Amino acid sequence: MNARRWTLVRRALASAVVLVLATGAHGPVHAQASTQKSVDVNSPEYKRGRLLYIQCRACHDLQPSEIEKIGPNLAGLMGRKAAADAAFAYSPALQAAASKLVWDKATLDRWLEKPAAVVPGNTMAFAGISNPADRVALLAYLEAETSAR
Ligand code: HEC
Repeated sequence: MNARRWTLVRRALASAVVLVLATGAHGPVHAQASTQKSVDVNSPEYKRGRLLYIQCRACHDLQPSEIEKIGPNLAGLMGRKAAADAAFAYSPALQAAASKLVWDKATLDRWLEKPAAVVPGNTMAFAGISNPADRVALLAYLEAETSAR
């Protein structure tokens, strides 16, 4: 098994654990290590996440794009260093935080809850999502949609 494949398998397993914790025994959990997507696109989480993403869509793209929106492109977000979209003019606050900020699920969860609490002075005009289950759902959607196709 090569290193990249092992990373994908590890990611898939990590997602499965998060989903199990989030949904208890009832939710459908599909850790498909054989595909890029470790998130079941038919799951209630994914569908809820797709709905919640409408709030982000005006400002962010999830796949590489020629066009820069109001916010940075989020392609390959999971495990990406903060402020890594070379074509985007980040705020000084986010640039300063970038050296010690990696977008893993735990950090993204805090960011989505309250961006200003993670990086004070950042310029993302978004108050946050207070419902933890909604954040889990949005993260499942983001994980699937920002991964390489
Ligand atoms: C009004 C526009 C706007 C909305 C709505 C918005 N964002 Fe942002 N987002 C930004 C901007 C601008 C930045 C860069 C902030 C900075 O440089 O301080 C950013 C940064 C980010 C980052 C860090 C990216 C990086 O490269 O480090 C993530 C992750 C993110 N947004 C996710 C989301 C998600 C998920 C939503 C929906 C819940 C959302 N954003 C809603 C404008 C927006």
